[in-house]
Order: sequence, then C-alpha cells, then structure tokens
Amino acid sequence: MTIVPGGSFDKISPTALLTAYARQFAGIPYTREIAELTDAIATVNQFTEGKLNSLVIGLAAIVEGRYKAIEYVRSQFHATQILELASGLLPRGMILSQQPEITFIESDLLAMIHQKQQLAQQLIGDRPNLHFLDIDATTTLNSSRLSAYFHVDQPVTVLCEGLMMYLTFAEKRQVFANMREILQTFGGVWITPDLTTKVGADQMGRNSAAFEPVNQKISSLTGRLVAENEFADLDQARQFVREQGFQLDEFSMLEVLDQLESLSTLKIERDIAKVMLSTIPIFVMSLE
Ligand SMILES: C[S@@+](CC[C@H](N)C(=O)[O-])C[C@H]1O[C@@H](n2cnc3c(N)ncnc32)[C@H](O)[C@@H]1O
Repeated sequence: MTIVPGGSFDKISPTALLTAYARQFAGIPYTREIAELTDAIATVNQFTEGKLNSLVIGLAAIVEGRYKAIEYVRSQFHATQILELASGLLPRGMILSQQPEITFIESDLLAMIHQKQQLAQQLIGDRPNLHFLDIDATTTLNSSRLSAYFHVDQPVTVLCEGLMMYLTFAEKRQVFANMREILQTFGGVWITPDLTTKVGADQMGRNSAAFEPVNQKISSLTGRLVAENEFADLDQARQFVREQGFQLDEFSMLEVLDQLESLSTLKIERDIAKVMLSTIPIFVMSLE
C-alpha cells in the first residue's frame, strides 16, 4: 500500500459517499434520496472490494449514532445560527432549514459543496436561510465570510462529523485556531465526535471484521494515514483540547442507542452497537 502523507484533501471527499450510503438505513429524512442520486453504492464497492455487508453493518450504527447524538446535544443549546464543517452529503442543513428562525451554513471543499448545493436544489429547491460556502477547515478562516449570513451578537453552533480523523495533528491545530476565531467573534459551542483514539479503534476492530481492512483501503485511497492521526486515548485528546484554549464537556453516544433504526433494518446486534457507540464521546467545546 503506497501512502502519500498529507495528500490532497479532495481525495478524502469520496468518503462522504461511504457515510451517505450507511446513513440511509437510519430513518433520517432525505438520506435514501441522497444515496440514490449520488450513486453512493458505486463508491462503496470501490472501498469495500466485495465486503459490502460487513462494512455497512460496521459503519451504519456509528454513522447513525453520531448523527443522532449530535442532534441530541445540539438541541440543548437552542442556537439559531449553525455552521456545519465538512458537511459532505449530510441532510442536516436541509432538515433544520425547514425552521425559518434557523440560519444554516453548510461548508466543505469547493467541489463537494458545489455538488451538495446542486443536490439540495434538486431535493428542496432554494431556501433563504440555507447557505453553502467552500471552506477548507485547515486554512486560515476569515470569520467575515460567516458574518455575511450570521449576526455577530448571536451565538453559533459549529458541527463537524467525520473530518478530523483524516487530519494530521498540525492540521487539527489549524482547525482549532479557526474554531477559536469563530467562537471569539460570535460566541457559542463546537460539537464534534471527531477526536478519535487508538483505544477506540482497537475496540471497534474487535467488534467489526470489516473495520481494519476498510480503514486500510480508506488510507490508501485518501492518502491519509487514519491510524497515525488518532489520539492515543481520551486523556490525550482532552489534553490537546485544553492546550488549544477550549473547555470541554462530553456526552455519551449511548444516549441515543435506543433510537437507532439501523439495528433492526440491518439486524445489527444491540450489544455490538453498544460497544461501538461507547468508543466515541461527543465533545462540546467552548472558549475558556
Ligand atoms: C467522511 S466524509 C464526512 C462527510 C459528512 N460530514 C458525513 O458525516 O457524512 C469527510 C468530508 O470531509 C471533507 N473534507 C476533507 N478535507 C477537508 C478540509 N480540509 N476542509 C473541509 N472539509 C474537508 C470531504 O470533502 C468530505 O465531505
């Protein structure tokens, strides 16, 4: 396997089709349409080399769990200004922008956010409170790009799922610097399950036969050594967060275990899903 460390970020974008495929079993609006319109199965086949079933089972519970757990946590903050980083093919912006009091900015790399905007156009048409911005989370962010849509006197909730595990530690630091800039300008919180650990990955690997081979394939196709970008354990992740000037709360994904629809759809054992969800907390970060 040849890996180019720090390869182009666009090579990460096809992973959004993996999660879009896995998310369609969760009973979340628009997810089936998104998987179908993007032909997500074709990319999944490329990543899984015929191990489709075990991949889906491995990924579906975690993708559904993190989406629903973020929603559970997000709803406790009542923020009406929401920024999603690396939004990929997530349906959250389309769902939440049904509430006119919410201003939602979806962001991702240029090509991906362009595709997403076209998809949203097809599925829901234009909405005055749903915006699409190309943001590379690892380059310096000018928060005035956001204040074109957000009020500076109202807090922002930033969401991010499925990005940071691909980033080196230097790139993670830049994302944290950008989040500091946003929270200094608007106030609010940053919610993410993305501070993944080696301890968690080992636990996942023991519970899903597809986890390790698919991770290797992801590394080879994206040029990103996922295993090298993980924190050793949660304590190291917590320390990293504090060093970047944030305070931290954690919520367990197990809060949403009983809401997971993919367990019955895909016949995933509850105990396996329980172990997988317990490996990753949802981090809620705000400025000290
Ligand atoms: C695993 S997908 C996750 C997508 C979506 N959040 C989800 O949960 O389905 C990773 C996403 O990160 C985006 N991405 C990769 N590098 C990025 C960067 N430097 N800045 C912003 N987004 C990036 C990709 O385009 C892709 O949409």
